[in-house]
Amino acid sequence: MTRIYLDYNASTPIAPQVLEAMMPFLTSKFGNPSSSHSFGVECREAIEQARERVAALVGCAAGEIFFTSGATESNNMVLKGIAKAAGKGKHIITSRAEHPAVLEPCKHIERFGYTVTYLPVDRSGRMDPGDLEKAIRPETALITIMHANNEVGTIQPIAELTKVAAARGVPFHTDAAQSVGKVMCRVDVLGVDFLTLAGHKFYAPKGIGALYIRQGKHLPPMLHGAGHERGMRPGTENLASIVGLGAACDLAGPLLESEGNRQRQLGNRLMEGLKTAGFKVHLNGHPKERLPNTWNISFEGYNTSRIMEALGKDIAVSAGAACHGDKVTASHVLVAMGVPPELMKGAIRFSLGRETTEAEIDRVVEILVKNLH
Ligand SMILES: Cc1ncc(COP(=O)(O)O)c(C=O)c1O
Repeated sequence: MTRIYLDYNASTPIAPQVLEAMMPFLTSKFGNPSSSHSFGVECREAIEQARERVAALVGCAAGEIFFTSGATESNNMVLKGIAKAAGKGKHIITSRAEHPAVLEPCKHIERFGYTVTYLPVDRSGRMDPGDLEKAIRPETALITIMHANNEVGTIQPIAELTKVAAARGVPFHTDAAQSVGKVMCRVDVLGVDFLTLAGHKFYAPKGIGALYIRQGKHLPPMLHGAGHERGMRPGTENLASIVGLGAACDLAGPLLESEGNRQRQLGNRLMEGLKTAGFKVHLNGHPKERLPNTWNISFEGYNTSRIMEALGKDIAVSAGAACHGDKVTASHVLVAMGVPPELMKGAIRFSLGRETTEAEIDRVVEILVKNLH
């Protein structure tokens, strides 16, 4: 049987155009971008072109983009950088539905005397700007709220939240690892001061990402060295991957709408197919404010491990809850959303991508009918 990949939120393949753009920088163009000879200069030029491409996708100036190793590093740079700059006894606001790449740095800085408020989300995974307003204190040093949730795809009302933050003069960071390249994600529209993105979520390689830092905002660097990335992230650049990230941004922009619509239709086809087959399925997350590719579905009456078994190892999906024997370890996101236990234990995340076809969706439904009913 040919394998079916429906786990694009975990990682995507490298797009052929991205690989093609990278190849010269894995072979003939190998200079150190900091060198002043032509071997270095051609690499430096490629990095700066990639920076412009990333900036064009997220709507900022090239000088506001800093390359990192990915979303985890970008998030850590902001959280630890702000904590370090602001000193002890300060306060950070985040949400209960964040990725561990935000929650863990929050826990880390709590150990160094910071207070962190974890705001709730509603049943659809959305935050209430009113809750944010109430949580802001005079000593609040940062608000960090993800743009789109990796498990359920709910998109937060970031533009509303940043208005609340700006009115109180509090810097705002968003982890946009799951939204950049999937939906329109422009820093000027969102009104954020810092934005995290990760290449491997939208057809660039793993281990490359970027942090947008609004001009005029300052962060102390986490690493110290020879001053690369204007001192923000020293270390010889991951040249080929940076070029790949730029190419992936170029590719993603024009595809946002068409791929979004196509993947939304495929997701609806999956839901309808499952319903027609007699499954009692519930879509987790917001019905409208959501990523078009992310379909976190609860199967009433089944548990996740049984569904994963029915799908087998060659259909790649992600468990919405981990089951060990009879014990179900619930996802913190579904818990934060207040999904009832009987639905939580049968949750599966299907995340679709550019290579997903109708035939694959139909095949998945067929297999579930065959192996689960
Ligand atoms: C929302 C979000 N933030 C951060 C990350 C971490 O990304 P990386 O492992 O590339 O650092 C992920 C990856 O799943 C994510 O979905």
